[in-house]
Amino acid sequence: MTSTELLYSDPLQAATKAAAEIAQRTGFASHDIALVMGSGWVTAVDALGDPVYECNAEELIGFLPPAVEGHSGKVRSYEIKDGGKTVRALVFLGRTHLYEGKGMEPVVHGVRTAVKAGCKVILLTNACGGINTRYRVGQPVLIRDHISLTAATPLVGATFVDLTDLYSKRLRAIVKSADSSLEEGVYVHWRGPTYETPAEILMMRGMGADLVGMSTVPEAIAAHALGAEVLAISLVTNAAAGVTGEKLNHEEVIAAGKAAASRMGALMKSVIPNLI
Ligand code: HPA
Repeated sequence: MTSTELLYSDPLQAATKAAAEIAQRTGFASHDIALVMGSGWVTAVDALGDPVYECNAEELIGFLPPAVEGHSGKVRSYEIKDGGKTVRALVFLGRTHLYEGKGMEPVVHGVRTAVKAGCKVILLTNACGGINTRYRVGQPVLIRDHISLTAATPLVGATFVDLTDLYSKRLRAIVKSADSSLEEGVYVHWRGPTYETPAEILMMRGMGADLVGMSTVPEAIAAHALGAEVLAISLVTNAAAGVTGEKLNHEEVIAAGKAAASRMGALMKSVIPNLI
């Protein structure tokens, strides 16, 4: 059986095997926290210093090659020291999205691998459109809750998982104690790859949504179902469709991410040791 066949036939076993490969390659039996870096966030990890290990994600069992510019498809291991504490962070540069049409398994394989590698906390980052008109481009927003307009879930069978505290209140409080100016919002999961229409954005606002993007929700559910705590931070890279009348494009999303990278990097570096 190929590694891709294993991913689709037994995704948890594929994740367990990928985690064992990471332990063997890095020499660290376990990691503490995983970071998934979304569009435009990749340069924010420079704040963490030099990784102690790096490979192309597709060298590991079950990982597919990247499909989107700005998602470089690397897996790295970092050692973050803070006082007497050492935190081992597994960092995924890039992710697979639902809109790639490869199904749910590759979308959540990274976070499942991270949990099997020992990570108790999963920090998900993404680029998103701002529905809430208070938000400015370049602003990070903590996800407080989500609305899934894809209704897609990585879980199958009678797994009735409670999602009341999906985006951990405890972790959000820790991040806000480091930066009290951070806002919280409700994120809509939109399948894409088309952006939303202005009418769809009005509908989302009416539903109580603040942010919209094409990732994060399946990964949050998969990580939570395996017992990890989830923190998710969106970077507002553009006003959502119809909010300003400007057209949306992926280059703008990447550029806004790059412009905000140093603030995002500093925020991550300062909070990570407190999350573990
Ligand atoms: N909509 C959906 N996904 C996005 C957006 C958006 O406006 N910006 C960045 N990712």
